[in-house]
Amino acid sequence: MSLANKNEFQNPMSETQRIRSEQEMTFGFAKVDPTIIMLAGKTTDFNSMKTGVFEPPSASTRCVRLSRSVAEAKGPLNPWSKQFVDMQMDEMDIEIESKDTKFLPKMSVSVQGHEFKHQEMVGEGNFAKVYRYESATGGDVAVKVQKESEPWEYAILTEVQELLNGTCAEESVLKLISFTKYPNCGVMVTPYYVNGTLLSLCAQAKPLLATRAVSMKPFILFFAAQLTALLVELHGKDIIHGDFKPDNIMLLPIDNFDSAFGDKGKIQGVCMIDWGRSINCRVYSGAFKGKCYTSGFMCGEMVKNEPWRFQVDLYALAMSLHIIMFGDYAKVNHSAVSTDTTLSSLTIPRHFERRVWPEIFNSLMNYQSLENPVNMLREKRDYFAQEYNALTKREKENFQDHYKRHLDL
Ligand SMILES: Nc1ncnc2c1ncn2[C@@H]1O[C@H](COP(=O)(O)OP(=O)(O)OP(=O)(O)O)[C@@H](O)[C@H]1O
Ligand SMILES: [Mg+2]
Repeated sequence: MSLANKNEFQNPMSETQRIRSEQEMTFGFAKVDPTIIMLAGKTTDFNSMKTGVFEPPSASTRCVRLSRSVAEAKGPLNPWSKQFVDMQMDEMDIEIESKDTKFLPKMSVSVQGHEFKHQEMVGEGNFAKVYRYESATGGDVAVKVQKESEPWEYAILTEVQELLNGTCAEESVLKLISFTKYPNCGVMVTPYYVNGTLLSLCAQAKPLLATRAVSMKPFILFFAAQLTALLVELHGKDIIHGDFKPDNIMLLPIDNFDSAFGDKGKIQGVCMIDWGRSINCRVYSGAFKGKCYTSGFMCGEMVKNEPWRFQVDLYALAMSLHIIMFGDYAKVNHSAVSTDTTLSSLTIPRHFERRVWPEIFNSLMNYQSLENPVNMLREKRDYFAQEYNALTKREKENFQDHYKRHLDL
């Protein structure tokens, strides 16, 4: 889902997005409550509060069954079509709680005996509004009210969590508390992440990023490594996120600033939200068609109506890297004469390897294959991590001070 005007995809940032970024810059971010961070970081507390009853076959059994059903599909398939989504939902055996009374945003939400009360709206997209709700006994939850009552985000996220269980990305994926289907909407409850989005942080750091300040080098390398590592894990499991961008990344406290990744290569500081456009490639190995209307994040194949697969995320990673490097959206040429998509102006800051970075952008924006790109992503992840690890102790401490101050820790 996107705030973008659907006709505006050549404009790198829609008016609504611009306004929101400016608001984020002006008003700053939610303050950190240490108890909430603990809640947000743990699955177990919330697992016990799930209202959905799961009796699913294992992910691999589901895949075999479903790939049989879609094996017949001819030509590029729209992964967001109701037919394709419904087909998968039928195979997933996820039991959803449903109510026959309408849900109103100011209503309280009850999750296994805990009552949460509406506080404020924290985000709004084309198809959903997100609210912060608070319990009388302390602790917040995020309540995402989706205009369509279809539980696809909940279903695919359940699948993703199962697939990433025990990997270094386990804690970097939105946790689920419950999903309830109402006649007028779907209501998904998740932990509330108090530290704001990566986009907010980039917006705040924009004056430094725009002037190519050398002090931002650790920040850029650190988040480049985390975002790429997230895609390595997702694509490694044949999952496409489909709406990969800094406003869909919530910030988390970072345990270890000495090296890019934590214990056993754990991804740090980020949690991916907004899974409503995610695609399970395990069930269909052919090409996809269809567009996602996220302004400035639409890959060349979508713009030119060509088949695509992982390009949607690779392109979005390139755009995200541009935002964390320059604090702004990229100006892109979708060339009409060649297949290449290029950046119209790209002056890599001089404290980065100027031979390497244009090639990073170029290869992410112009991936020509329908094969899984995970090996290419691994190389980039390792490059970013090595560059971060090679920074001086002082540079890392400086980043640590600023990040902790931003999170108000
Ligand atoms: N669990 C959460 N904790 C705190 N804030 C959240 C949470 N989930 C969402 N938000 C805020 O709400 C915004 C919108 O959420 P989300 O991306 O899930 O909805 P959306 O309607 O799909 O939005 P968009 O169309 O802008 O992508 C996020 O960018 C974030 O600022
Ligand atoms: Mg979003």
